[in-house]
Amino acid sequence: MRNSANATAGLQQPDWANPWVVANWKMNPVTTDDATLLVKSINDKLVNSNRTCNIVLAPSFLHLSTVATLINPDTALFQLAAQNLCAYASDTGAYTGEVSAKQLADMGISHVIIGHSERRQYFNESNDVLSKKIACAMAADLDVILCVGETANDYDNQATSAVITEQLAVLKNFAASFAFNVDDATKSRLMIAYEPVWAIGTGKVPTLNEVNDVHRMIQETLASYHDKLQATPILYGGSVKADNATEFAGSPFISGVLVGGASLNAESFYQIIDAFSQK
Ligand code: PGA
Repeated sequence: MRNSANATAGLQQPDWANPWVVANWKMNPVTTDDATLLVKSINDKLVNSNRTCNIVLAPSFLHLSTVATLINPDTALFQLAAQNLCAYASDTGAYTGEVSAKQLADMGISHVIIGHSERRQYFNESNDVLSKKIACAMAADLDVILCVGETANDYDNQATSAVITEQLAVLKNFAASFAFNVDDATKSRLMIAYEPVWAIGTGKVPTLNEVNDVHRMIQETLASYHDKLQATPILYGGSVKADNATEFAGSPFISGVLVGGASLNAESFYQIIDAFSQK
């Protein structure tokens, strides 16, 4: 957690050497009561379990403060992420409907998901706008979880590497800053989430070899930008469930997971955390 006037009691510094389990709640649930129930159930599952991974919860903007007050720091290394942020100003301004990076940081939010395929698809987010978002996140010292991944069509056309290389190119201008921040826990750091679009919410997953190959390619690309970025955590996302998490957790190329649907159920989310805590 960063220095924030509204620092939330439930957050601690993550341990970057540990695996990451990130819950992307997307636009779920409808009610604050249900969000409350979900966090309480996750706390209950984790109590006395001594789990060793970093757990990041990304509820909707509306539920962030509720979730922040409920997470129990005694149960796990919890962090909070926003699912989006304003691209055009990092602090304040006339941007109706937007939330800025510094507003998030002030609430004790430490991470932001940038470039999720649903934002690329439904909100036409291109590298140009994503670059602005990364700059805003860095101005507020938020950690960036950059999502990349190919569509089914790209996959069928064997264009996965080309598409991901193009998506990663948005980082080139930031590589030196992220590399400089690698040794400074108070600064904005980088994580990548590889999420094949065809695997999100579909129950289909790539083979472990396919994921490993893409993760290796991402690692090499980042290293070509700056050698220090070779250590960037690379997460897998797309239909991660309790019954496939152990396989992903077993790979030395997978530093964690970004979980959508299965993170909305405390039991399945706990089992995924459990799988990565054995890593
Ligand atoms: P899913 O979503 O786990 O429901 O497939 C993952 C994501 O979109 O991040």
